[in-house]
Amino acid sequence: MDKIIEFKNVSKTYPSGTHALNNVSLSIDKGEFVFIVGASGAGKSTFLKLIMHEESPSRGTINVNGMRVSTMKRRKVPYLRRNMGIVFQDFRLINKMTVYDNVAFAMRAIGTRPSVVKKRIPYILDLVGLTHKAKSYPSELSGGEQQRVSLARALVNNPEIIIADEPTGNIDPEMSFEIIELLSQINAQGTTIIVVTHEHDLVRHFNKRVMVIDKGKVVSDTKENIDESADIDYTDEEFSFQNEETANQSSDLPQTDKEVDHQ
Ligand SMILES: Nc1ncnc2c1ncn2[C@@H]1O[C@H](COP(=O)(O)OP(=O)(O)OP(=O)(O)O)[C@@H](O)[C@H]1O
Ligand SMILES: [Mg+2]
Repeated sequence: MDKIIEFKNVSKTYPSGTHALNNVSLSIDKGEFVFIVGASGAGKSTFLKLIMHEESPSRGTINVNGMRVSTMKRRKVPYLRRNMGIVFQDFRLINKMTVYDNVAFAMRAIGTRPSVVKKRIPYILDLVGLTHKAKSYPSELSGGEQQRVSLARALVNNPEIIIADEPTGNIDPEMSFEIIELLSQINAQGTTIIVVTHEHDLVRHFNKRVMVIDKGKVVSDTKENIDESADIDYTDEEFSFQNEETANQSSDLPQTDKEVDHQ
């Protein structure tokens, strides 16, 4: 399998002294769908920010899509991002632009022809259920609507990798399900997808690869079977850990390695 993302012994310490990631080594194949779960402050967003080169690692090497991201110069970042759709945890919409223009801007920025933009935007807005808000400004939208604009912008250029930091954090359960279903369909066409989420029900329902980050380390990975004694406790508010003894008492265990579709 082609590795599209590879971390080798990656650590990230912020200038404040916080150790956000600690010696993480992992790889993600082209076409995989990965859920990243873990408690608040565990290092999930940091992991994504290293992939998109919003932050640089303090140690280790990162390769993304054939590029050495860990030592990448700022001016090269647009080449990396060109093949990446990003849903930020804080949306990052342009407040002075309408919904339509926020999404169109992402297409115009890479030089897409106006005729193509004009055809594509209505299609994408319909996909995320925002056709009726095309002319609204971000400040006029609910949190969930802003989140869906952010998702539309991430999808619109047909990127090779989609990175979504809690894309359903502000959205009701039914719509959350639809959004992951949509990402799943996009994944079925070959796009690599990485989704950070706190929602156990979604993770359980969609039987994908699940990585658990805890205190800056990947402590469980349904693909790598990093720590067989650890298991995800879906009954807790956060994805906390329990040892094998307690885990076995639960009849509602998450998928085992066998059941996971590795594609
Ligand atoms: N820019 C920064 N400067 C200093 N510390 C930071 C910075 N960004 C994150 N941190 C710290 O690094 C740790 C990991 O943060 P990160 O944002 O990766 O967590 P997270 O798993 O995404 O949490 P959440 O679920 O709340 O979004 C936390 O202790 C956080 O306070
Ligand atoms: Mg985060």
